[in-house]
Amino acid sequence: MPWSRRRSAEALPAWIGLAPLVVLLHVACGGDGPTTPTPSASPTGPTATQVEPLKNAAGATVRLVGAAVQASLLRSDTTYVSAFAHHFNYATAENEMKWAQIERQQGQRDYGPADEIVAFATGRGIAVKGHTLVWHSSTPAWLEALTTADARRAVEDHIRTTVGRYRGRVVAWDVVNEAIGDSGLRDTVYLRKLGPDYIAEAFRIAREADPDALLIYNDYGGEGLGRKSDDIYALLQGLLGRGVPVGGVGLQMHLDAASRPASADIATNVRRLAELGLLVNISEMDVRIARVPADASARLEEQRRAYHDVVAVCVAEPRCVGVTFWGFTDAHSWVDQAFGPDDPLLFDDSYRAKPAYYGVLDALWRR
Ligand code: XIL
Repeated sequence: MPWSRRRSAEALPAWIGLAPLVVLLHVACGGDGPTTPTPSASPTGPTATQVEPLKNAAGATVRLVGAAVQASLLRSDTTYVSAFAHHFNYATAENEMKWAQIERQQGQRDYGPADEIVAFATGRGIAVKGHTLVWHSSTPAWLEALTTADARRAVEDHIRTTVGRYRGRVVAWDVVNEAIGDSGLRDTVYLRKLGPDYIAEAFRIAREADPDALLIYNDYGGEGLGRKSDDIYALLQGLLGRGVPVGGVGLQMHLDAASRPASADIATNVRRLAELGLLVNISEMDVRIARVPADASARLEEQRRAYHDVVAVCVAEPRCVGVTFWGFTDAHSWVDQAFGPDDPLLFDDSYRAKPAYYGVLDALWRR
């Protein structure tokens, strides 16, 4: 059956407001239907804009497919812009909405680069996810010196001002990022100054600032089953039990193909989170292959499989509403700096489609 007839209005996730609805309808009306791709890692294979848009396949299954973007590249690289616009109906600021970027000096806020991303996306009918309001790794240095009362006020101001600014244009927010550590709550400036209730407070303030956005708890290393995913589950269950307005959970999914969690475990974890009533996002997916003991083409095949299997888990779970990749071209990935040289994304340095791209496409089409 052609994909455009497979989708139905009833299947739209309830949290999706008008803007992404327009995206999905636009996508649903504009595609050419499935093609039969030939996986290729060849240096002469098709480039990003020559292959089927991922958003066609994602729209057919009523899901958002996105990537983290960088404002500086949107400004300077037309290949980057056209590849992004061709494939994605969901955009996330890689760094531009982080607190340390916005408010380097207290009271002097710069939303310029974040505004550029929002304007770029909304101008093309691409839904935006805000990332991220409360994260220990991107907190302005000046917060540490404040008294508890002043720190509480500063956090509240930051959330109100930022969420309020983009109300109606940002459909979802990663409100709190990576609050779980190796054992229980991570030791952060937020925990030390504000106490464990800072998480609930952040969600309540975000809800007041935007009554409609999907409010997400986002974390890494809790994708499959194990202690950390149990801790994340327990945190969310506790918050929901106290009526805290958390609506979604983001599983970052920064994977190493050499040691990735079993897909069945990811599926079980996603299901139990969904049973709490949460919507699930795969929120920052990339797949490192440098440590896979094999030749280049076998590594790319392992990577294809990893992408395919994770996206297939999302497509099989009605409450998994979107997948976001942490970039889309190997030319620009945080992985090289954070973990060492690698090729973790869907398109190569020259924007050619890798087997990973076909893995995602196939999974979105349920193949
Ligand atoms: C990373 C960015 O990609 C880098 O450019 C930056 O230097 C550090 O942050 N988890 C997250 C993301 O939630 O915000 C991080 O992004 C990657 C890990």
